Amino acid sequence: MGGRPGFGADGRRENMSSTFGTLFRVTTFGESHCKAVGAVVDGCPPRLALDETDIQKQLDRRRPGQSALATRRDEADRVTVLSGVENGLTLGTPIALMVANRDQRPGDYGHMRSVPRPSHADYTYRMKYGIHASSGGGRSSARETVGRVAAGAVAEKFLAEAYGVEIVAWVESVGEVRAEGLLEKEWGRAQVDAHRVRCPDPSAAERMEQAILQAKEENDSLGGVVACACRNVPAGWGEPVFDKLEAKLAQAMLSIPATKGFEVGSGFAGARLRGSLHNDPFVMKGDRLGTLTNYSGGIQGGISNGEPVVFRVAFKPPATIALAQKTVDFQGKDVILEAKGRHDPCVVPRAVPIVEGMAALVLADVALRQKTRW
Ligand SMILES: Cc1cc2nc3c(=O)[nH]c(=O)nc-3n(C[C@H](O)[C@H](O)[C@H](O)COP(=O)(O)O)c2cc1C
Repeated sequence: MGGRPGFGADGRRENMSSTFGTLFRVTTFGESHCKAVGAVVDGCPPRLALDETDIQKQLDRRRPGQSALATRRDEADRVTVLSGVENGLTLGTPIALMVANRDQRPGDYGHMRSVPRPSHADYTYRMKYGIHASSGGGRSSARETVGRVAAGAVAEKFLAEAYGVEIVAWVESVGEVRAEGLLEKEWGRAQVDAHRVRCPDPSAAERMEQAILQAKEENDSLGGVVACACRNVPAGWGEPVFDKLEAKLAQAMLSIPATKGFEVGSGFAGARLRGSLHNDPFVMKGDRLGTLTNYSGGIQGGISNGEPVVFRVAFKPPATIALAQKTVDFQGKDVILEAKGRHDPCVVPRAVPIVEGMAALVLADVALRQKTRW
């Protein structure tokens, strides 16, 4: 009572919002133009085979400068494992993962210091903290997701080794271009990466690429949807009621910058169907009960049912565009903003490994929580 605001009765800070997870716990650190970004993973089981390449391959899929479809900021994003791993095995102690920020150009943002970018986080960060990082969105920048992807790769290794879980995300739509029927097939990452848009339907991928390049040419940006399937998730994962599996996935996905929507299984389209069509009848699948259809998205009552966990995440068009926009500066004076700097015309191709990483963090956490019950 009457303690410092933001501190509990025991003097501990109550607002540690950079930490995610209960037993498989991840804290990310870093801003867009500071010295390094990364994560500390606490609670990863010991004796798991892990080396830097397990992490690097996902960071390579997230990194900027991959193609003409992404920002030109050129970061190699080489991960260094600082602790928690010895001779290729996890020790069960905190795993600290660091990636240097090399291509910093804070000067690119000088002209935008006094103008909060429309639909970016400059205004809200200033309102919350009374200060904001001098350039590039600071902590709100997608640079922060480097830590999530690195930590997610550790979680994914644990899930694959311990349970055979496979997580594959892909781009389902870009702007008005949508690929149909993709959830019906079991895509692998090689098929997803065959096209730089990361849509496994080659004809839709080509149209998506053209749409992104056209928006870029016009100094504008485009949104899109990423779909994700998590296969071989055993029945029984997820903690009713507030930590239902879909609720944790929704939190994880909506914490990714630029996300505007989450749906599991049939999602919003399911709301238009009748129960007789929407129900997933049980059938025998080998020695277990399975379901004929998967409108539930592999989750019922907040608990996995053994079917693939499938969901979609909607991303908005990135806010920073070079097209002139009428807005006001922090003082309320009318200005025309033509943003400079290097920006993604569409984030979804790079968001694919971020979605996979966050899914892995959620699943590793619920896996460990389920283990404590038996
Ligand atoms: C992979 C990725 C790349 C992004 N690149 C940009 C970018 O180049 N320019 C930009 O304005 N926003 C970009 N964003 C989105 C912003 O970080 C985000 O919109 C901003 O922090 C405001 O947060 P909000 O959209 O979640 O409200 C990116 C997001 C992701 C996931």
